[in-house]
Amino acid sequence: NAAEKGGYEHFMLKEIYEEPKAVRDTISPRLKDDDVVIEELGMTDEEIRSIRKIDIVACGSASHVGMTAKYVIESMARIPVEVDVASEFRYREPIYEDNMLVIIISQSGETADSLAALRDAKNHGVRTLGIVNVVGSSIAREADNVMYTWAGPEISVATTKAYSAQLAAMYLLSMKFAKVRGMLTDEEFAQLRSDLIQLPDQIESLFGMKEKIQKFANRYLAAGHMFFIGRGIDYAIAMEGSLKLKEISYIHSEAYAAGELKHGTISLIEDGTLVVAVATQEKLYPKTISNIVEVKTRGAFVMALTNLGHTDIEKNADYVIYIPKTSQYFTNSLAIIPLQLFGYYVSVGRGLDVDKPRNLAKSVTVE
Ligand code: G6P
Repeated sequence: NAAEKGGYEHFMLKEIYEEPKAVRDTISPRLKDDDVVIEELGMTDEEIRSIRKIDIVACGSASHVGMTAKYVIESMARIPVEVDVASEFRYREPIYEDNMLVIIISQSGETADSLAALRDAKNHGVRTLGIVNVVGSSIAREADNVMYTWAGPEISVATTKAYSAQLAAMYLLSMKFAKVRGMLTDEEFAQLRSDLIQLPDQIESLFGMKEKIQKFANRYLAAGHMFFIGRGIDYAIAMEGSLKLKEISYIHSEAYAAGELKHGTISLIEDGTLVVAVATQEKLYPKTISNIVEVKTRGAFVMALTNLGHTDIEKNADYVIYIPKTSQYFTNSLAIIPLQLFGYYVSVGRGLDVDKPRNLAKSVTVE
């Protein structure tokens, strides 16, 4: 078992260190000089152009990939996207239409609710696409088409590298759709392509802050609760950061769309409450800053995550983590790394079973 961990204390840390490779292996076979080639998609350009609506269905972290993909696909490819957790989707009588695509995202390919959602869509004659990590799994076999994420086997219950590979797959899909539908100029495509290629090295560069994050995490081992806030893609990042923290540290944590704080949650902020504010989306930056000011005024301690260069944030936040420059569409891939490390070190600091948190299973094959 120690050998399987390759010298790392836990599978989770080992798998975090495997993220650059997982992203690279998912991207490189599909990213050509001036095109994205996803043969497994099994769709002609004509079929891609005729997509009217996409429904993304998933559970847990994979649903946070779905949330991110909704922002990316809608903005980049201008196709309407709905996202739902599978346990809701399968019972809500979704409206199936012609020229609709249902995308199921699943690491294991065996999650019961996700599989049921897939079958429901198929029964209604809707085209389905699986984004799956485990080759030959049920969802991979039953979906009309499957695009694999190449993260390799993931052992730790809390997903890290499969999540990152899923994000990469969704970026590729979005770029493909956008290109075929004429939504990207050659220059825009080239820029996205070069940003995508740089992601693995940029992820790797973030590992350098591991000691700094461990130190910070050690200050919060006894926290009662925490909040994660953000807008747009930053909201999706906040959702995943919050889930990582709570599932392995057992500290109550909530993610909030930053603009919704004032409708309730802000009453929970007390002196010293940790608020993690994600502010990587340039268009929304001033808005999120004003939310940081709001929680600061109520006594919160604010850890902010933003793009390199935004040193002005230090006027308002108490602790700042910078991520390298990338496309606005891809910031989740970088911002999530410090948040995974934060959850990991809080769990380690509390002496918990990081890889096998209580009550949780790696793959939920019963309803
Ligand atoms: C479980 C795991 C999560 C995962 C979710 C969906 O809850 O602990 O890490 O995100 O299932 O799993 P899937 O295999 O469908 O991605």
